[in-house]
Amino acid sequence: MNRREIHKQVAYALMACTGIVIITGLGITEPGIITPLTFGLFDKFISFRIHTFLWGPFCILCIIHIWLTKTTHPKKQ
Ligand code: HEM
Ligand code: HEM
Repeated sequence: MNRREIHKQVAYALMACTGIVIITGLGITEPGIITPLTFGLFDKFISFRIHTFLWGPFCILCIIHIWLTKTTHPKKQ
């Protein structure tokens, strides 16, 4: 796997992570909307657990994504 392919995997993982963090964040504040929308999967308690767990991986993926952006897309002089 070359650098570009690794970057793609990291970017898609980051995108998935971002989506789940936003949905679970809303699941904490608006369980009345999110719980039925996710067919009972993300109730307030589960949302809270996932939201609290996921911010670490989110930060790490964000840092790797920005770092890979800097190294695989160097600024043209
Ligand atoms: C939560 C925030 C972010 C998410 C979810 C995200 C997600 C993505 C996704 C899904 C791609 C497409 C990857 C591909 O198809 O190869 C991408 C590409 C890219 N992102 Fe992000 N990104 C985020 C933040 C950032 C930030 C802060 C920067 C700038 C420092 C950035 C710079 C780029 C660049 C330059 C590309 C093009 C990479 C390529 O074509 O190889 N992204 N991002
Ligand atoms: C990319 C987006 C987000 C990130 C990175 C993020 C990150 C975090 C972090 C780091 C915490 C502290 C976790 C802890 O208690 O250990 C937190 C808590 C919280 N977030 Fe988010 N969040 C995001 C989006 C949202 C959204 C969209 C909502 C809802 C509208 C939300 C609602 C909450 C709430 C209510 C708490 C407090 C939970 C508590 O009682 O401790 N978040 N978030």
